Amino acid sequence: MLVYLDCDPGIDDALALGYLLAHPDVELALIGSVSGNTDAATAAANARDLLELFGHPEIPVAVGRTDFLSHPYSGGAPHVHGNNGIGGVQLPGGAAPFAPGSAAEELVGLARSRPGELHVLAIGPLTNLAVALEIDPELASLVADVVVMGGAALAPGNVTAAAEANIHNDPEAAAAVFAAGWDVTLVPLDATMFQRFEQGDLDALLAGGPRAAALGRMLETYYAFYTQHFGRPSSALHDPLAAAVLTGEAVVSRASRVPVVVDTGDGPGRGQTIAELRGRYRPVAPEHPEGVRVVFDIADPFAPQLLARLLAL
Ligand code: RIB
Ligand code: CA
Repeated sequence: MLVYLDCDPGIDDALALGYLLAHPDVELALIGSVSGNTDAATAAANARDLLELFGHPEIPVAVGRTDFLSHPYSGGAPHVHGNNGIGGVQLPGGAAPFAPGSAAEELVGLARSRPGELHVLAIGPLTNLAVALEIDPELASLVADVVVMGGAALAPGNVTAAAEANIHNDPEAAAAVFAAGWDVTLVPLDATMFQRFEQGDLDALLAGGPRAAALGRMLETYYAFYTQHFGRPSSALHDPLAAAVLTGEAVVSRASRVPVVVDTGDGPGRGQTIAELRGRYRPVAPEHPEGVRVVFDIADPFAPQLLARLLAL
C-alpha cells in the first residue's frame, strides 16, 4: 500500500516510522514534517536521520509549515520528547536534500500522480493536510483514505482536560480535515492510551540490534514522562497504533462512524473533538456514511506485534 506519512518526530512517531518500514506491504513514498512535538524543521531533520538509521535514505522528506493555521508554533513538548524531539538521542545524520516543495505541495503532487492509491497517515497536527486541501480542493477525491492519530472522543485530553495534543495544536486544521469529505479514520486517546510498551519491551529493544536499541534509548525519555501517568516505566503507543490501524495489522474491534466536530473557540474546550455518539445507546448504533470512523478498541494487544516488527529492523 502506497503511504504518505505526515509526522512530528517525536519518539512515538519514530516507532511508527520504524513499524511502517518493517511492514512488507507498505510502500512509504513520502514523509512530510509538521510542527508539534518539535518545530517542523527539526522534525524533518529527525525524519531524515531516522531514515538513515533504518537504511532508507532514498525516501524523500518534505518540510512542512512551522506555524499553525491560526497561531504560531510555540515550543513543542520537550518535557515529553526531549529537546531535540527524539529523547536527546544523537543519530547518524542523514545527508539527502529535502524535497523541493513544502510538505503540502509534495502531498498534492504525489496524490495527483497516483490517483486513488495514496493512503495518508497523519500522526502530528493536521496543518499540512489542511494546507494541501487549500492548494487542491480535489485532493479528498484523489486519496484512498486518511488515518489520523489524534483527538479524544470519550477519554480525557492530554494537553487539556478536553483536548489531545495533535488536535489542540491546530484545531482549525483538524476541523477542515474532518469536513473535507474523504474517508477519515480517527485513532484517539480512547484507543491509544490502552496500548502500551512496558519495561520488558524496552529491555528487549535495548538488547536488540542498533536500530532497535536506538529506539529504546529514545523510549527511555518517553517512559520517564509516562511513569507519572501509568505509575511505572511504560509508554502509550499512539502513533504506531495508528500506523497499524492503517495497515490492518491492528484489527479494529470497536468503532463508530459518526460526525466529529472540533471546538475552534478560545475557551477551555479549544481543540476538543466532539463526536456525535448520542445514538450509542440504541440496540444498533447509527452509522453516518459521511462521518469520521472513530476507533475505540482493537481485537488483540498491539505491543507484541510492534515489538516483533521493531526488533526485525
Ligand atoms: O497526543 C499524542 C500525539 O501527540 C502523538 O502523535 C505524539 O507524537 C504527539 O504528536
Ligand atoms: Ca506524533
